[in-house]
Amino acid sequence: MIAEHGGSDSGPAPIHDFSSNASPLGPPPGLLSAVLAAGRSRYPDPAYLALRTHLGAAEGVDAARVLPASGGAEAIRRLSLAAHLSGLREVWVPQPGFGDYAAAALALGLQVHRYASVAELCLALAEPALVWVCEPCNPTGDSLNDADWLALDAALQRSGSILAVDTAYEPLRLMGASQLPPALAERAWRLVCPNKALSLTGVRAAYMLAPASGHLAEHARNVAPSWVLSSEGVNLLMHWHDEETQAHLRHVRAQLRAWRDTQYTVLAELGWQQRPTCANFWLAKPKQTGLLEPLRERGIKLRDATSFGLPGWVRLSTQTPAAQLALRQAIKDLKKT
Ligand SMILES: Cc1ncc(COP(=O)(O)O)c(C=O)c1O
Repeated sequence: MIAEHGGSDSGPAPIHDFSSNASPLGPPPGLLSAVLAAGRSRYPDPAYLALRTHLGAAEGVDAARVLPASGGAEAIRRLSLAAHLSGLREVWVPQPGFGDYAAAALALGLQVHRYASVAELCLALAEPALVWVCEPCNPTGDSLNDADWLALDAALQRSGSILAVDTAYEPLRLMGASQLPPALAERAWRLVCPNKALSLTGVRAAYMLAPASGHLAEHARNVAPSWVLSSEGVNLLMHWHDEETQAHLRHVRAQLRAWRDTQYTVLAELGWQQRPTCANFWLAKPKQTGLLEPLRERGIKLRDATSFGLPGWVRLSTQTPAAQLALRQAIKDLKKT
């Protein structure tokens, strides 16, 4: 099963891509040079020892707890398979939420439950399950607060469930900070997917941090393909914690904060309904229907939110002022036709 995604499709590359949540600001130069200089003539170390040691030190965990992955999408499939192999039969996913959690579980014949709120999840979580939390959540831009995490922790312990926190958009969080309690983080699986914040989604690279207890870790290691991460991916991850990269990300967030505000205003002036967000993307409901195809024909792509269970809505990422102007002009032109 292939889940629906924003970003590239089989057509020509969009000129203004609001449908991908990747940063429009490009990668930090040092990291990009390292990716471009990757040695392609030899396999990377199959054990990824230097990489795991480096990431483990940066994350404050033992290198054995770092599992390189060829992207968050691969990590989601692998963790779901590990959960299945360990005997778990149920998976909880946010609704609306990133489609790959459910797609991975359904492909393995696992039972998928969807939760609209943490309160609903905590009430219903009875059997041991793999529980996905996306922080901040794609597509809503919502984030769990202290009380949510506390209640979730209790429900996880009561039911003997395993928590997986997908932090793909943590580096693009524009407001507030993650409230995930450190003690719970130590007991959870965490997915780190840097390519969106780095504007390098074509480089397939991510890593998982296994819980301190090692739950599922052996299965997740055993089912990894050999050389799961390319040499380009290794170099990207080796430079993820560099000071230059982190300074670049601070600049990206500051710039996106300002652009998000103007984009919000542009859409409000067009009469669109918009949901609040803490991230660089959000859900909006255009005033008129049937916009997506004619916009795509003009090189402007928005993410249809129908597959998130939200027909009539779209998800948009923050884009440059030039892209915002192009979107506003195209919508005005379409109104006239
Ligand atoms: C919430 C979330 N997690 C994971 C991914 C997978 O990203 P990648 O496989 O490029 O690391 C995406 C991609 O859109 C996402 O939105």
